[in-house]
Amino acid sequence: MSSAADARPPLDRSALAGLPGFSVEVLDETASTNAVCADRAREGAPEWTVVVAEHQTAGRGRLDRSWELPARSGLAFSVLVRPHVSPARWGWLSLVAGLAVAEAIGPDATVKWPNDVLLGGRKVCGILSELVTTGSTTGAILGIGINVDLTSDELPVPTATSLALAGITISRTVLLTSVLLRLRHRIAELSTFSEADLIRAYAARSATIGSAVSVSMPDGSVIEGLAEGIDGDGRLLVGGRAINAGDVVHARLT
Ligand code: BTN
Repeated sequence: MSSAADARPPLDRSALAGLPGFSVEVLDETASTNAVCADRAREGAPEWTVVVAEHQTAGRGRLDRSWELPARSGLAFSVLVRPHVSPARWGWLSLVAGLAVAEAIGPDATVKWPNDVLLGGRKVCGILSELVTTGSTTGAILGIGINVDLTSDELPVPTATSLALAGITISRTVLLTSVLLRLRHRIAELSTFSEADLIRAYAARSATIGSAVSVSMPDGSVIEGLAEGIDGDGRLLVGGRAINAGDVVHARLT
């Protein structure tokens, strides 16, 4: 562990262990919290099992990218959920996870479709959601990485930022607790909210809706146009097309 990591405070394990309704496992080091959380799900772990690592050495990102942060400089954690909602609503899980992170960070944070969180137009959080099926039970692993205390030299890419670089000081334990509580609240709304309610809540934090976007599709094609909104399944609407998955660039970003 580097001297910078030694200077960074560890997570408060006893505070996290006492969080009602969650089972939080703190690891000193692991390759990927999503992989460990999926193992816990296969072992029969209950919903709201959380795996968090002080140092994640081979974190996985969307589209086969990696997610690496120096030890204790950020949050790398995964949450097991099994909401009792229709399959169409499961598509909302990673979107509302982004919303929960943005709310925990504060009023300046926005969400970039599908589920990045931005500060000042720069990425501060990425989310990778994966399904895990055991027998007849399916769960979702919501893997969340947040750049908390990174210096500019430590940023993975120049278009990223950290809470510290944006002038936000918060302990990782407090931030993790806040995200988990907001996530539970937002996921409960998947059972109670109408489609219009979900769209309204997401749109209110969205940096993408109303922007000119370029979307790289999984088949290699590119769709360009105005992001007009999202539909009831959480798909992005661009030029009259509903997009399920893709890599979005906002034209106004540099
Ligand atoms: C992305 O923006 O590409 C998504 C990044 C997701 C990273 C998080 S960190 C915790 C969890 N464990 C992983 O291996 N990945 C996710």
